[in-house]
Amino acid sequence: MTSVPSKSLRWFSKIIVFATLLLIFAGALVKSFEVGLSVPDWPTTYGYQMFAFPWADMVGGIFYEHGHRMLATLVGALTLLLAIWLGYKESRKSVKLLGYTALILIIVQGVLGGLTVIYFLPTLISLLHGVIAQTFFLLVILIAYTLSKDFFLRHHDKDKNSSILMMFTIAVYLQLIFGA
Ligand code: HEM
Repeated sequence: MTSVPSKSLRWFSKIIVFATLLLIFAGALVKSFEVGLSVPDWPTTYGYQMFAFPWADMVGGIFYEHGHRMLATLVGALTLLLAIWLGYKESRKSVKLLGYTALILIIVQGVLGGLTVIYFLPTLISLLHGVIAQTFFLLVILIAYTLSKDFFLRHHDKDKNSSILMMFTIAVYLQLIFGA
């Protein structure tokens, strides 16, 4: 029988969910203000290593685009820690796998973000970037849920409504792709 994960791990997974929500909000600002190309290079920022870019120059569109990159790097680092933490402490293989998948997804997402800048925001790459952002968000919510006390308290018998719920989930996900 698996025991409830430590309080610190449960908290950490929730912090990642919250940080991802902020990151998606920051990405949406980049898109809404159409400032995706205000930093024309990647992985550097106007030739600077990204953390060495002067704060005083974080103005206009650069504020949104560079801020989005910094936040993305933070979430990437947190996801790496989570994957390592789960790898060492989590006994359920499926949950470890979710952690590794989240890590791979955020790396792919970061590279897509860079490529969309380098190739001047091609629709396909920007679309994938938008869809993976939401998929990653769902994944970290799922991880946080599987680590929560609530998960362990509930009975996990297959509910007769589960296939209807699954159909709704797939429909909402398809809607998300069309939206992107
Ligand atoms: C790694 C985690 C990341 C997440 C979760 C994320 C999320 C998002 C989201 C939700 C959007 C808005 C999409 C839309 O409204 O259509 C966006 C836009 C954008 N992101 Fe990211 N992003 C990440 C990393 C990056 C990185 C590393 C870059 C590097 C340059 C980047 C560059 C951009 C650009 C340029 C846009 C605007 C795209 C456009 O105008 O078509 N992103 N991002």
